[in-house]
Amino acid sequence: MGRPMVLGLLAACLCLTVQCVGSARPNLILLFADDLGFGDLGSYGHPSSLTPNLDKLAAQGLRFTDFYVTSPVCSPSRASILTGRYQTRSGIYPGVLYPGSKGGLPLNETTIAEVLKPLGYNTAMIGKWHLGVGPNGTYLPTRQGFDSYLGIPYSHDMGPCSNLTCFPPDVKCFGFCDRGVVTVPVMHDEVIVQQPADFLQLETAYSKFATNFIRRSANKKQPFFLYYPSHHTHYPQYAGEKAAGKSGRGPFGDALLELDSTVGHIIHTLTEAGIINNTLIFFTADNGCELMRESRGGNAGLMKCGKGTTYEGGMREPAMAYWPGHIKPGVTHELASSLDILPTFAALAGAPLPKVALDGFDMRRILFHKGPSQRKAMFYYPVDPSEKYGVFAVRMGKYKAHYYTRGAAHSDTTPDHDCHMTSIMKQHDPPLLFDLEADPSENYSLSPDDPEVAGLLQQIQQLRDDFQASMVFGESQVDRGTDPALEPCCTPTCTPKPDCCRC
Ligand SMILES: *[C@@H]1O[C@H](CO)[C@@H](O)[C@H](O)[C@H]1NC(C)=O
Ligand SMILES: *[C@@H]1O[C@H](CO)[C@@H](O)[C@H](O)[C@H]1NC(C)=O
Ligand SMILES: *[C@@H]1O[C@H](CO)[C@@H](O)[C@H](O)[C@H]1NC(C)=O
Ligand SMILES: *[C@@H]1O[C@H](CO)[C@@H](O)[C@H](O)[C@H]1NC(C)=O
Ligand SMILES: *[C@@H]1O[C@H](CO)[C@@H](O)[C@H](O)[C@H]1NC(C)=O
Repeated sequence: MGRPMVLGLLAACLCLTVQCVGSARPNLILLFADDLGFGDLGSYGHPSSLTPNLDKLAAQGLRFTDFYVTSPVCSPSRASILTGRYQTRSGIYPGVLYPGSKGGLPLNETTIAEVLKPLGYNTAMIGKWHLGVGPNGTYLPTRQGFDSYLGIPYSHDMGPCSNLTCFPPDVKCFGFCDRGVVTVPVMHDEVIVQQPADFLQLETAYSKFATNFIRRSANKKQPFFLYYPSHHTHYPQYAGEKAAGKSGRGPFGDALLELDSTVGHIIHTLTEAGIINNTLIFFTADNGCELMRESRGGNAGLMKCGKGTTYEGGMREPAMAYWPGHIKPGVTHELASSLDILPTFAALAGAPLPKVALDGFDMRRILFHKGPSQRKAMFYYPVDPSEKYGVFAVRMGKYKAHYYTRGAAHSDTTPDHDCHMTSIMKQHDPPLLFDLEADPSENYSLSPDDPEVAGLLQQIQQLRDDFQASMVFGESQVDRGTDPALEPCCTPTCTPKPDCCRC
C-alpha cells in the first residue's frame, strides 16, 4: 500500500471514530453565568425563571446533570475554564482578585483563546474577566489571546454602588458593595470608556459587541471564539428597560432574563449569518448560587448549600452544549467539568494542546456519541486551597467522599446549618461517603462499617494521593496583595482618589 492510501484510510478511520466536522473549523462560543445555582434554570427545574433562549439550548442541545467547576468562587473557576488546569497550578487562589491586585493569571498560562489564535481564529471577550488588571493592564484579556474586549474586568460589586442605578427608571442598587475603591469601570480593550458603569445600558452594549463580532467574522469567513462570562446573576442584580420587571421572579429573574436575551441575539445573528450549523455554543456557570442574598441570590435546587462550599450546591453547575446537526438533543449523566472545555475546543479546531500539565479531558465522545466520559474523578478544592489540607472532597463515579466540610458566609441564611459560616472546618476520618445517584442532596452518608464502603474509601484515597502527588502549587497571585494605585481610574492624575475617578 502506498503512503497516500494508508493516510487516506487512516483519515477515513478517524472520521468513523471521531466526529467528522468537515473541513471548516467550527466557531466556538463559551457562555459563563455568574453565581448561578444548579436549580436556577427552567431546564433544571426552576418553576418561575423566564429563559426562552437558554431553554432552547437545553431542549435542542445536550444538557449535563453532572458537570463541575473547580472552585466555589469566581476567579479560580475562571482560571480553570480558560486554561484547562486546576487553579492551584496557575496560582489563582486563595479567594479572588481585587481591583488593585498586583497579581493576575500568569502570562505564561495558555488560555483557550491562545490555543485557537494560531489556527486563524478571531477571538473576543465581553463581560467579567476577574483574572487581574495589574500595572498598566498587564493581565487584561487582550494580553491573554483576546483580540478585543468589552467589559468590567472584575465583579460589579467591587466598587461603591449605593448611588448607582440598577433598574429603571432610577431604582438604586440593593444593598452594599465594596467601598473605599474606585467605582466599577467599563473597559474597551485596555482603555476605560465609562466609570462608573451604566448598568441599565451594559447588556445592550455587550449584545451589540457580540453580534457585530459574529457578523464581522462571518463576513470575513474567519472562524471565531467568543467568550462571554456574564455579570448576571451575581449580586447586586440589575437589568435594563427590556428585562426589568418582565420575569415574574423579581430582580434575580430579571437579571437572568436579560442574560437570556443576549443568548437570543447571538442565536439570531448566527442564524442570519448562515453559520448556526457551524457553531458550537457551550453554556455553564462559574460557581454555585449566593444563598446569603436570599431571594435575590440563586437557587441550588436539590443540591446542598451553595457558593463558597464544597458541597454539591457550590460546584455542580448547569451546563449545555448546542450545535444543530452535530449534537443530538438529550441529557447526559456523564461526569464532566469546565476543565474539559479547553481540550474539547482544541480537538474541534484541530489545535495542538499546550505542553503543560492539563487537568481536562476531551468531551467529544460525550457530545457526539452519547459515549462514556474519559473523566473518572473530580477534585473539590475549597476557596483557600493549601498543600496542608489538600482537596476537601473527591468524586469517583457516583460516589463522593468529604475529607473536610465547612460552611461559608456566601451560603448563610438557608435552613441547613451545615451551609453557614458558623459551621467551621470539620475533618472527617473516615471520610463521609455519599452515593450521589441515590442521594444527590448529600443527606445520608454511607456506613463506614460496611466492607464495600471501606473498599470504596480506599480506592478514593488512592486517587486523592495520586492527584495530590502530581499537583504543583503555583505562586499565589492573590497573596501578592493589592496597591490602590493599580485600581483602574479613567482620570489617572485626579484627586482625591478613589472618588474622583469618573468619566
Ligand atoms: C510560569 O512561570 C512561573 C514562574 O517562573 C513558573 O513557576 C510556572 O511553572 C510557569 N508556568 C507555566 C505554565 O509554564
Ligand atoms: C506604566 O506605563 C507608563 C508609561 O508607559 C510607565 O511610565 C510606568 O512606569 C508603567 N508603570 C508600571 C507600574 O509599570
Ligand atoms: C452618593 O451621593 C451623595 C449625594 O450626591 C453623596 O453625598 C455621597 O457621597 C455619594 N456616595 C457615594 C458612595 O458615592
Ligand atoms: C436533605 O437535603 C436537603 C438539601 O440540603 C435539605 O433541604 C433537606 O432538609 C435534607 N433532608 C433531610 C431528611 O435531611
Ligand atoms: C442547519 O441544520 C438543520 C438541521 O440539521 C437544517 O434543518 C437547517 O436547514 C440547517 N441550516 C443551515 C443554514 O444550513
